[in-house]
Amino acid sequence: MDKLLIRGGTALRGEVAISGAKNAALPILCASLLAAEPLYLSNLPQLRDVSTMLRLLEQMGVEVVCHAPDMVSLNSRGLHNPLAPYDMVKTMRASILVLGPLLARHGEARVSLPGGCAIGARPVEQHIKGLQAMGAEVNVEHGYIHACCAADKGRLQGACIVTDMVTVTGTENLMMAAVLAEGETIIENAAREPEVVDLADCLISMGAQISGAGTDKIRIRGVERLHGARHSIMADRIETGTYLCAAAATGGEVRLTRTSAAYLDAVVDKLLDAGCDIVTERDAIRLKAPARLKAVSVRTSPYPAFPTDMQAQFMAINCVAEGSAVIRETIFENRFMHAVELIRLGADIRIDANNAMVTGVERLDGATVMATDLRASASLVIAGLVAQGETVIDRIYHLDRGYEKIEEKLRQLGARVERIR
Ligand code: EPZ
Repeated sequence: MDKLLIRGGTALRGEVAISGAKNAALPILCASLLAAEPLYLSNLPQLRDVSTMLRLLEQMGVEVVCHAPDMVSLNSRGLHNPLAPYDMVKTMRASILVLGPLLARHGEARVSLPGGCAIGARPVEQHIKGLQAMGAEVNVEHGYIHACCAADKGRLQGACIVTDMVTVTGTENLMMAAVLAEGETIIENAAREPEVVDLADCLISMGAQISGAGTDKIRIRGVERLHGARHSIMADRIETGTYLCAAAATGGEVRLTRTSAAYLDAVVDKLLDAGCDIVTERDAIRLKAPARLKAVSVRTSPYPAFPTDMQAQFMAINCVAEGSAVIRETIFENRFMHAVELIRLGADIRIDANNAMVTGVERLDGATVMATDLRASASLVIAGLVAQGETVIDRIYHLDRGYEKIEEKLRQLGARVERIR
C-alpha cells in the first residue's frame, strides 16, 4: 500500500488549481442512468471514487467514453443490468445513488446495502422510506435492496416526503427518482448542500422540472423522459477548504484558482477568526496566514453551517494554534479517529463523547501515522506539513478517494512530499 512521506516545516506558497467536486460528480454520474442520450461531463475530478463509479455504471451497460482526463460522456441507452454488486458498493457507499435513477428509469434495481463505515453506521432507511412513499416495493434480503415499481403503476408516483434528518445523498437519490415519476414530489427537510444544487442544475439541463434546490423544500414535477446534456462539475469546496487550512497551519500564503469562496462562508469565517487574511476573487481565493493562528472552536451541522467534512482539518490547525478550542461533531457518531494519530505527532487533544478539546502546542514532531478515512487523512497531511522532521502516512488509498494528485499539488506550493509506492 502506498504511503506519503512528508518533511515538515515549510510554509506553503504559490498557486494551485482546485478540481471538480467529488460529492457533486458522484450523484451526477448516476444521473446519466435517467436518459437514453449522452450526458457530457467536464471538470470531472480524477479520483478513485470516480473511477469506481464509472466501472459500476459500465457493468450496468452504460457506455462511457473518456474525451479528456477530466471529461467523459455517458450513454445509458443500452442499460441492461440494474445491479450494484457488493464488491463495488463495499468500496464506495455513494453507490447507493444508483438506486433512485435505476428505479425511475428501469422500474427495478438491485443494490447492495452499503455496510458501516469508519465514521459511523450510516444507515439508508430514509432513502428507502422515500422510495416507498413514491409507491416502490422494497425488500432487503441477503444484504441487497430489491426495489421495483408497483406492477399496476409501472412507474413511480409523486409524493410528499419529509426526511427524519437532513441527508445529502438521501435528498439526491429521491430527487433523481422523482424526475421521472408521475405527478409532483415534494421533499421537505431537504439537504441544502451546494452539491445538491449542482445535481439539480444538471437534471434541469436534461429536461427535469425542479424548483427549490438549495432550500429545505424541493419540488419536482415528473416528466415522461429526459434527454442528453452537457454539464461542468462545480469546484470542490472541501478540497478548497483543505488547502486553505494547510496554508494557514504552515504560516503560508497561497492563491487557489478554479474555485471560489461562494460555498465556504462558514469555513472562511473561522479562518478569519483564526487571524488569516483572505481575499476572494470571482474564481479564486487567496489566504495569507498570521505568524501564529488563534484557536477556533467549531460545531459541525448541515449546510450552510460548518461542514463535517472540514472538521478533521480544523482539528489539525488547532493543534498548533494559540489557546484551546472545542470541536463538536454532530453529524457522525465516530468521526474523531484522526485524534489519536494527531496525538502521536505530539498534539494535546481530549475527547469526551462528540466533543474534542484541543489545546495548541508549540510544535509537532514527525512520526508514522495511519489514515482511517478520507478527511482524517487530510488532517494528518496538514499536521505532517507543520511537524518537525519526517511524517509517514500509511493507507493513503483513503486520500486518493477524494484528493486529486495531492502530492503534486502540495509540491507546487513548495511542500516536501513524496509518495512511497
Ligand atoms: C454525504 O454523505 C457526503 N458524501 C459525506 O462526505 C458528508 O460527510 C455527508 O454527506 C454530510 O455532509 C457524499 O456526498 C458522497 P448524510 P451522506 O446522509 O449523504 C444519518 C466525504 O468526506 N442518516 O447526509 O451519506 C447519517 O448516518 C464524505 O466526502 C440516517 O440515519 O450523509 C448521518 O449521521 C464523508 N439515515 C446523517 O444522517 C439515512 O437514511 C447525515 O448523513 C441517511 C442518513
